[in-house]
Amino acid sequence: MITSEEKEILLQRAKEILKKNWEDIDENKGYTKPSNEIYPFQWNWDVGFITYGYTHFDLDKAVKEYRALFSGQWKNGFLPHIIFHKPAPSYFPNADFWQSQELCKKQGSPLNIKTSGITQPPIHAMSIWHVYKALKRQNLERAINFLQEIYPKLYLNHEYFMNERDPEKTGAITIYHPWESGFDNSPRWDVPLARIVIENLIEYKRVDNKLIDPKFRPKLEYYDKYVYLVQKLKEEKYRDKKIRKKHPFLVKDVVTSSIMYLSNLRLKKMANELGEKTFEIDMWLKRFEDNFRDLFQDKDGFFYDLDMITGEKIKVRTAAALLPLITGLLNGKELKKIADEITQDGLVPSTDEKSPKFNPQLYWRGPIWINVNWLIWKGGMKYGVDLDTDSLRNKMIDLVKTSGFWEYFKPETHEGIGANNFSWTAALIIDLLSHRDGF
Ligand code: GLC
Repeated sequence: MITSEEKEILLQRAKEILKKNWEDIDENKGYTKPSNEIYPFQWNWDVGFITYGYTHFDLDKAVKEYRALFSGQWKNGFLPHIIFHKPAPSYFPNADFWQSQELCKKQGSPLNIKTSGITQPPIHAMSIWHVYKALKRQNLERAINFLQEIYPKLYLNHEYFMNERDPEKTGAITIYHPWESGFDNSPRWDVPLARIVIENLIEYKRVDNKLIDPKFRPKLEYYDKYVYLVQKLKEEKYRDKKIRKKHPFLVKDVVTSSIMYLSNLRLKKMANELGEKTFEIDMWLKRFEDNFRDLFQDKDGFFYDLDMITGEKIKVRTAAALLPLITGLLNGKELKKIADEITQDGLVPSTDEKSPKFNPQLYWRGPIWINVNWLIWKGGMKYGVDLDTDSLRNKMIDLVKTSGFWEYFKPETHEGIGANNFSWTAALIIDLLSHRDGF
């Protein structure tokens, strides 16, 4: 348990981290670096988690953060996973590697800002809805102005996902690269990656394993494949139609798809506020509701990603098996079964401890991540007694109070690893300490 004094100290520390990681662009825009150490730009889904924190104490920053993110949007609606607002040399793959401005003119990549050429889970309708509600409590006019400014861009992004990343019209989203999932080095991607045969890999120099102890970072065999997949996407000039035909990595990601569904629900709420039509959004929602169990749920009750090249489910037990709970579509019993199996000491590690793929210290292969547990906590509240969300909340707060604001944590020892003073850990702790609402 946490005393009110400890709570104040933790809140202060979290706010200081966000302040230190903040970069101004101009008076209307700015962004929060995920960490000063290894992530010096603006990252797409990090913005979603980080703005959940800002809504509790600095709405101006939440608005500025979103303006900055959407300034990197391509005209076809695509929202890149990194926006390179300012140069920073010590990063790979940096802006010049992606070549968004040279290769993506057709898709309308902005001419004044360099971006990456892959995306990340579409969490933004969830967090923008949260920002909107907070603005509305302060000033109705400002809230509506914000929504009117952002909604068309957000809608375009959802259209991009639903048209280009789900040509099969299942309601579920296909990713082209493990990094698009946000679970970058997860064993969820081992089977599809193992199939890829590398031909003529370009020369490259990674930086992550110079900044962080290499024993916590992905192995070279994986990194080569990550780079090779980007090389392939570049060869197709990032054109979705071409990529769909012969790209060697095409996976329906169960987490991205669940986030998409929940974001579509929030988009519908926004449409209602603005008096916009919801016909298309209703159709997207129904597609997912009709298909998600067939696509993702196995006989064992767990949810797995679907490899679109082989048509096989990728049966590795990870935190992803539980994350469809955020849709609100599971029943309490099935949820409890999965949660009981993969929870360890009250927290959910990124990979199930009983899986042969479990590694307590390797990036996404075992460590505890706060964003994953936060999603389970927020989404779990809907299910009442079937999931002890109060305990999950207290465990997360205790973990950070004792170990610090790390990127990830070893399950048995709770030692913090990866980047320190990590922005989404700070922002989500603020959210955890500030209220107990669902998304
Ligand atoms: C790591 C994570 C990814 C995150 C990025 C920036 O690459 O795997 O999910 O967006 O760091 O924090």
